[in-house]
Amino acid sequence: MREWTREEKYRPLKDPQELIELYRQVSASSYRQTYHIQAVTGLMNDPNGFVWHDNRWHLFYQWCPWGAVHGLKHWYHIISKDLVTWENLGVCLLPDEGNGYDNKGVYSGSAMPIDDKIYLYYTGNHRDPDWTRHAYTCLARIGRDGWPEKYPLPLFGANPAYTEHQRDPKIICLPDRDRYYMLIGAQTKDRRGCVLVYSSGSLQHGWVFAGELKVPGYESFGDMWECPSIERLGGRDVLLFCPQHLTIEGRGGSQNHNGYIIGSMDWDTLTFTPDGAFHVLDFGFDSYAAACANNHQEPDKAILIAWMGLPDVSYPTDEEGWAGCLTLPRELTVRKRRLVQQPLPELKKLRDEQTSVSPDQNGLFRIPKAAEIEIDCRPGLFRLSLFTDECGNGGVTISTDENQTEITVDRSGMRTRFNPLEGETRSRPLENGLLHLRIFIDSSSVEIFVNDGEAVFTSRVFPTEAEHFCRAEGDVFIRMWTMKRALKDEFLI
Ligand code: FRU
Repeated sequence: MREWTREEKYRPLKDPQELIELYRQVSASSYRQTYHIQAVTGLMNDPNGFVWHDNRWHLFYQWCPWGAVHGLKHWYHIISKDLVTWENLGVCLLPDEGNGYDNKGVYSGSAMPIDDKIYLYYTGNHRDPDWTRHAYTCLARIGRDGWPEKYPLPLFGANPAYTEHQRDPKIICLPDRDRYYMLIGAQTKDRRGCVLVYSSGSLQHGWVFAGELKVPGYESFGDMWECPSIERLGGRDVLLFCPQHLTIEGRGGSQNHNGYIIGSMDWDTLTFTPDGAFHVLDFGFDSYAAACANNHQEPDKAILIAWMGLPDVSYPTDEEGWAGCLTLPRELTVRKRRLVQQPLPELKKLRDEQTSVSPDQNGLFRIPKAAEIEIDCRPGLFRLSLFTDECGNGGVTISTDENQTEITVDRSGMRTRFNPLEGETRSRPLENGLLHLRIFIDSSSVEIFVNDGEAVFTSRVFPTEAEHFCRAEGDVFIRMWTMKRALKDEFLI
């Protein structure tokens, strides 16, 4: 693994041409995705500023241009008309050099449009020459001409009553209130994760600290909460966040989680009263920092997209100079006190040709590099091995017990194994057995939607040339489609 010096990690981006060689190298990777958003070069992590404006979806991602390293973060801008095909627009927010408020990174945040402008709220990650960290909540806006413009002064600095871990502003606009709210992920001085709430009558100034969000029962739940948000869905409030340094049973040694609590939010007392437990959003291995689109007017549905990766781990493509992609956008609803995630209906447009699933004498059939597989299942033992070799060995196995009380995904059979500390199997109880699966395979990922969104397992996977077969056991009906390319993947900086 390459060791990066601080200078290399935080090198300012001056000339896009400096990246062309890296871009060529990255483009040659056989693991480049074909219909998932991915870093143009280097590393991507959180989705940021996801918003509907001017008849288009705008999305940004945390981007370190130089390689697979969490170094100097920028906001890279992409747009879509349909949430299916995406276009690169280039880097939008660059850190200010020298003593700027964001001199060591334009960290995560959110967006809100007003009239013909989009306001971007982000964390300025400032470091003093002695590397002391300061977090500022900053504002930029994109005007009609598409140019970003940063406000010269931050909206506010770090709250001195908490540690310097304060970041990821989520801007909230409630129809029945004349104030805007902003949530900031934070850490108390005695190292407990929490959310700080700010409010203002204007999007551009006058932000004041309103208080710490009270979440009864969750006063000590991980040591830092990243990327918080509160969404109103189907008459309920949903608190989404990423508690860190927390061990959750069944999730291996994983310390970073993305989950939610359903409850009710009282904006007067800043109390989120849970109506149930904390649940993880995704039962797979690689999913974090999920964000819901702002300015999306459907009371019962939200649109969610997440980083298909995790902090503090490495991936096999690191050696190739890139890492990270985003999940497919998903429709989020509340059903029976749980969040349900389904692939957006629009994603059916990606289906290209329906290919025949005709197993050979060993029960194997070939899977294309980019495919959707839909399976209707009947009662009894179920076992599907994806990415096996031509003899049906190895791969990622999805299975249930005889009574279908639980579904398990096991990726230990892959030839390229990574992040073993995260664990290699993940399970989830099934409420009414296994009825249906929709599986999305791209060059280096698999997303498994169980029973119309009852559970999702999202994982990166790096099959070798030999690992492109599938074997199904059990009473199943399988359909499969090849997928169209949805990304131009152009060199646009
Ligand atoms: C989450 C996160 C955020 C931060 C950003 C930096 O993955 O750590 O809290 O703003 O990434 O890239």
